[in-house]
Amino acid sequence: MNKDTATPTSPVTGARGTSAPDRAGKLLRRMTLAEKIGQLVQIHTREDMVNPDLDQKIAQGLVGSIFGISDVAEINRYQRLAVQASRLGIPLLVGNDVIHGFRTVFPIPLAESSSWDLPLMEQTARAAAEEASASGTNWIFAPMVDIARDPRWGRIAEGAGEDVFLGRAIAAARVRGFQSADLESGRRIAACVKHYVGYGAAEGGRDYNTADISERTLRDVYLPPFQAAFDAGAGSLMSSFNEIGGVPASGNPLILRTILRDEWGWQGVVLSDYEAIRELIPHGIASDLRDAARLAITAGVDMDMMSYAYADHLAELVADGSVPEVTVDEAIWRVLLLKLQLGLFDQPYTDETLPDKIILRPDFQDLALRAAREGMVLLKNDGPILPISRNTRRIALIGPLANNKTDLLGCWTMFGQKDEVETILEAVTSYVTDSASVLQVSGCPIAGDGPDDILPAIEAARSADIVIAVLGESSDMSGEAHSRAHLGLPGRQQELLDALAATGKPIIGVLLTGRPLSIPSMLDQVDALLVAWHSGARTARALADILFGVINPSGKLTATWPRSEGQIPIYYSHKNTGRPAQGEGTRQFDEPFKSRYIDESNEPLFPFGFGLSYTTFAYSNLVVNTPVAAHDRRLVVTATVKNTGSRPGDEIAQLYVRDLVASVTRPVKELKGFQRITLAPGEERQLHFELDTAELGFTGPDMRYIVEPGAFKVWIGPDSTHGLEGDFTIKS
Ligand code: NOJ
Repeated sequence: MNKDTATPTSPVTGARGTSAPDRAGKLLRRMTLAEKIGQLVQIHTREDMVNPDLDQKIAQGLVGSIFGISDVAEINRYQRLAVQASRLGIPLLVGNDVIHGFRTVFPIPLAESSSWDLPLMEQTARAAAEEASASGTNWIFAPMVDIARDPRWGRIAEGAGEDVFLGRAIAAARVRGFQSADLESGRRIAACVKHYVGYGAAEGGRDYNTADISERTLRDVYLPPFQAAFDAGAGSLMSSFNEIGGVPASGNPLILRTILRDEWGWQGVVLSDYEAIRELIPHGIASDLRDAARLAITAGVDMDMMSYAYADHLAELVADGSVPEVTVDEAIWRVLLLKLQLGLFDQPYTDETLPDKIILRPDFQDLALRAAREGMVLLKNDGPILPISRNTRRIALIGPLANNKTDLLGCWTMFGQKDEVETILEAVTSYVTDSASVLQVSGCPIAGDGPDDILPAIEAARSADIVIAVLGESSDMSGEAHSRAHLGLPGRQQELLDALAATGKPIIGVLLTGRPLSIPSMLDQVDALLVAWHSGARTARALADILFGVINPSGKLTATWPRSEGQIPIYYSHKNTGRPAQGEGTRQFDEPFKSRYIDESNEPLFPFGFGLSYTTFAYSNLVVNTPVAAHDRRLVVTATVKNTGSRPGDEIAQLYVRDLVASVTRPVKELKGFQRITLAPGEERQLHFELDTAELGFTGPDMRYIVEPGAFKVWIGPDSTHGLEGDFTIKS
């Protein structure tokens, strides 16, 4: 939150006047220790079933926040308990996981990021905030800004992919959207940026697993999206489950105090992830819950989600001097400040007529459709076989996801309703003149060895002109605790595809997925391949619009697709090594002693930034306008892009740089700019990229950010592997 963040040195002594920080300080001085600790306690409302004294606790001022509730009347009831029954009347923070929409389900964040359309992502976040706010939510546990370079990790679905520059831009856009000041409810929402930090670096891609990240990589790769979110005003963050180099994030003073508070001066609220404080015990750094509470509050976790560590032990830790009361005061001051910034003291309740007016508004449905269309990525189109002619006589629509509703919504669909979802069968059928011309057969279950109808699928394929094979993952194959070791088509789907391929019919492969998959065989077997992701409530309509050419696909991948799991982690922005697979390097014996596999290529199946269109684009005339730039100046690079095909289309042009020699090793390419532009057939446009040379730095030998003079390469092109090349130098 940007308002009133001026910080008194001590929250208690700084209380003067009527600014939000002062009001927070004044209130703090009126509180008992029990009331103070209460503000640091967050409880899931479902807990009420197990632990029916939630009402009583709220009335006693022993709870600062609840979450997991979307019924506005029920939320108001809880707020009344907090405001009217508790001694100090402090309203509740009401949190929810609004990961890709509230009731209107937008594409999973990975899909949406593939649009590279920042204004769009700001709008979908805002629409989600409109619906959530109308329902009484004032705290959204998103955006997830974890950089993810391992598609085995199920939570890759929840973020913006592998890249730091793009991740920063998307983090900021989504925070701006969630925290929009003029929501129709007249209320405010705080974003909770997560998961701080390094959660996406889980070893083996297994959720919750150890992350061992060097401080340089932490600073250059994993931290920047958080910093961008804070620069955009994010009001809170969630500390993650994982350890980093031996110290669990939710008890880690380096990240929670030194970097967050001392270096960045950020004053928002740190919320632990679900029971992350309790988990300091199995991590092996706390002997019991009391010890865990001490470590977490000392490290800088302000609010405890569901561990009851603060509720049960903080008072005694303060009483025996293990935790200074000022440490608790600082945490509670931040919580009170956030509540004040949200305006909760002035307007704790939500108008109960709002949901009917705001939920599922038609413009949100249109936005969901636009987001779904823009995020889908065309990876192959031989022939071109796509778009399909509406006069195609017979279409065999095969696959376990062709007549499905739930799985189109994607993981973390908390409030969306599957009954409102159109199936791909319905959407495709709506495009053909005779509905009897679409033959739909599931072929096999999504996963497992269950019974199949592969023979009817073959028959349908044989009798059709084209096959649309709708394959991929169910929505519960990605998301939290849903990592996969095998990234091929699940269950018997490859067997089904083999059978379809054997018919010799042209096949359009459609993938519904929450992650990049490793599908080299499928790529060979199909004539076209379109990644539709789990694109939310409007998946089917957007997909059909693209298949039949009403919409020209424009998405580009934001995470590399591996050829095989053995290549993982795989990302475009890797280091060169001393023995690179290509180019100068080893002099030892020559060929074999290079950084590569003996049984697999180093190349991905599809690189970062890749995606096709029904039209074609040509790049020309790269000019580095500032071949020698001062290290505190702007760098200007231009190029021309032309639509060389016969349809209008959107192109996502990308600018990459490489720092050729530096005091520490630098990636072979780094994205530093992109533009999404629309071009009519034959139209050309000059792309003008202007970047601050301060963007070209890194964490130097002494762990400080530095921009070093020297030679750079620059590319402008359609993806991370192609582009026009130029040179520039940064002088000291
Ligand atoms: C655990 C997840 O890691 C986090 O992302 C989520 O916000 C919380 N649970 C609350 O549901």
